Amino acid sequence: MKKALALSMAAAMALSLAACGGSTSSSTASTDSAAAGTSEAASEASTEGGTVANKDKPLVWFNRQPSNSSTGELDMAALSFNDNTYYVGFDANQGAELQGTMVLDYIKAHIDTIDRNGDGVIGYVLAIGDIGHNDSIARTRGVRAALGTAVDANGAINSDPVGTNADGTATAVQDGTLEVNGKTYTIRELASQEMKNSAGATWDAATAGNAIGTWASSFGDQIDVVVSNNDGMGMSMFNAWSKENQVPTFGYDANADAVAAIAEGYGGTISQHADVQAYLTLRVIRNALDGVDIDTGIGTPDDVGNVLSDDVYVYNADERSYYALNVAVTADNYQDFTDSTKVYAPVSTQLDATAHPTKSVWLNIYNAADNFLSATYQPLLQNYDDLLNLKVEYIGGDGQTEANITNRLSNPSQYDAFAINMVKTDNAASYTALLSQ
Ligand code: BGC
Repeated sequence: MKKALALSMAAAMALSLAACGGSTSSSTASTDSAAAGTSEAASEASTEGGTVANKDKPLVWFNRQPSNSSTGELDMAALSFNDNTYYVGFDANQGAELQGTMVLDYIKAHIDTIDRNGDGVIGYVLAIGDIGHNDSIARTRGVRAALGTAVDANGAINSDPVGTNADGTATAVQDGTLEVNGKTYTIRELASQEMKNSAGATWDAATAGNAIGTWASSFGDQIDVVVSNNDGMGMSMFNAWSKENQVPTFGYDANADAVAAIAEGYGGTISQHADVQAYLTLRVIRNALDGVDIDTGIGTPDDVGNVLSDDVYVYNADERSYYALNVAVTADNYQDFTDSTKVYAPVSTQLDATAHPTKSVWLNIYNAADNFLSATYQPLLQNYDDLLNLKVEYIGGDGQTEANITNRLSNPSQYDAFAINMVKTDNAASYTALLSQ
């Protein structure tokens, strides 16, 4: 029975891999870190006086991969806008599978106590970040695949929210079956919802905090596990309800507050290696501006020895994308993850300012209120910008409209390079149009 569950999980994940254009499996993606080569436009960008056209300057998309928010298909026009355009994110499917497995392992290890009302149904609720965001879709699928609640929709796992599903009749999910120690349990997704606030901001922690209150009053001790697409929403639910009710809650991101909460009963989280992603975001810009091989300080040591090993990232040349690899953070290892803003030691050596003179970069965070981006990613970027001699202007968006951000890029000619975090993954053209003028 366990084997059957594992097999169906694998099949389900394979389906979701096939349908999720946002990332790749580590086995196919580990090709050719050096393929992108040296860039000519970029060496010009690094000359004094800056005669390089904005459309030829280095451009890095990060955290939200240019892609169709309905189908997940990558927006290759945006990803190959010029010779020095890349995406930096993480392997969404590998992380999603880890998150699902982490929750399943926890349930099995705590099977004697997990079913709070003893009805044989292990009920969970799920906070969904953004129904049109690859990472969010992958995590919903990963959890459903691991727990046996996934159903197929057009060749991929259905990632739609169910609203409520008290009796197990929702069509976007099915009841899963788990056999442990000779006893058979049902696993049911009791409720799930996209956490979007009335102004339109997604991954909204406050909305999740309210939702758990509503869910707890309808379902009470039917809720045995709380799962969230990220820690921002997960911690909001933990603080509002699950901590007091001792219900294990699982998130994603390994934000410092979530890691600390593991000591108080938070079930676990996934590190998306933001320390590696923040480095890559600025490193590819540094390399492009220096006119050196794009792999410098990444797969190949730079002049001071900064280098990443291939167990922390993959580069997919076809997708022009760098993906950091994820690590599960649970009660077993959380002590190693308490400082989420610490630079990654193998890439922490300062570059020489003569060989790598200061350059200016325009960078935006799509939503200044996003817990992961503001509490983990931006502080990391701020640590690396000094080490890489980049003067970065950080712009915080409102999480709602692209215009709120693009309005603050009125003079792109002032900058040597751009790093962009879109509100919606479909909207790359709002930025590339500005750079093409
Ligand atoms: C993070 C979320 C965050 C989102 C923003 C995801 O990768 O896990 O916490 O809200 O990015 O785009």
